[in-house]
Amino acid sequence: ADDLAMTSDIVTVTRHVLSEQFRLGVATTGDLTLLLTAITTTSKFIASNVRRARLINLIGMAGETNVQGEEQKKLDVLSNNIMINSLRASGKTAVLVSEENEEAIIIEDRYRGKYCVVFDPLDGSSNIDAGVNIGTIFGIYHINETNTKGSVQDVLKPGSQMVAAGYCMYGSSANLVLSTGKGVHGFTLDPGLGEFILTHPDIRIPPRGKIYSFNEGNSVYFHPPVTNYLNSVKFPPSGKAPYSARYIGSMVADVHRTLLYGGIFGYPDDKKSKSGKLRLLYEAFPMAYLTEQAGGLASTGTKRILDIQPTQIHERCPVFLGSKEDVQDLMKFYEAEA
Ligand code: AHG
Ligand code: MN
Ligand code: MN
Ligand code: MN
Repeated sequence: ADDLAMTSDIVTVTRHVLSEQFRLGVATTGDLTLLLTAITTTSKFIASNVRRARLINLIGMAGETNVQGEEQKKLDVLSNNIMINSLRASGKTAVLVSEENEEAIIIEDRYRGKYCVVFDPLDGSSNIDAGVNIGTIFGIYHINETNTKGSVQDVLKPGSQMVAAGYCMYGSSANLVLSTGKGVHGFTLDPGLGEFILTHPDIRIPPRGKIYSFNEGNSVYFHPPVTNYLNSVKFPPSGKAPYSARYIGSMVADVHRTLLYGGIFGYPDDKKSKSGKLRLLYEAFPMAYLTEQAGGLASTGTKRILDIQPTQIHERCPVFLGSKEDVQDLMKFYEAEA
């Protein structure tokens, strides 16, 4: 009977977000619901392009370089345009920050709303041509003052002030993982319905995992706390099993696995990259927000990521996130160093 109930009572993203608001009993304007609907629509559109990329000549370089000095892929540019068009047209946004745009985009008056969205339109670009999982990451802030033109100051705020964050992973299925500050919930795109359906309610990261996920090709540059931590999981005291290595190279996919299976994902600062590689606003913050909402920890090694006060929209930061006990173990190596 339960199976039958499930198939006759599906929970879409819209229904889920509305029901969270009903539960709070607050009068809502529906603005956040509409904004999230715009984001889910872009995810479906990007997912459909990703599926057909090989067939419609969407593989390869776009020919331009972004502000990070990365050569843009065609899918980076297309996904970015899809996001900007949809977010602007939603009428719910005031300021947009994208990995692919040097400056923040200030939405013109006639389309202006009260939310600001920071996003990585296509995460894992280096994996596109090999057909490996990629994704889209986003974080949402409330504008400081409504009825004023938004500015970059509206998004230069600690990640703890986000009102929602999430990602969509384009893998064997399209998976949307979302938090509006009341836990983390996962949805799977039903291609027949064209809707994201709640399949992973209330995701909780196991308190300890068995997997470490680092690009160890950078080992020669790593600082001692990272090297020592990695040695501790690879050469544990006798009687304990060593951890397994898993590293996809798409943050979305590595974080998705970490949320579901536990363990630790890390992209440290090192002798070559003094702030690491991952971008604070649209990679580290949304993923740190989701990790904490799922009961895990997200740290730079010495401090909570969500507490960082950004000063520039494209700044980077070291990232260690995942199971609480695993991240605490890593942090002990930083304390020992201090
Ligand atoms: P993007 O494709 O949006 O530029 O992000 C790439 C990021 C992230 O997805 C991943 O965790 C990391 O770069 C991988 O870096 P390495 O190739 O240096 O391991
Ligand atoms: Mn990039
Ligand atoms: Mn990325
Ligand atoms: Mn990207």
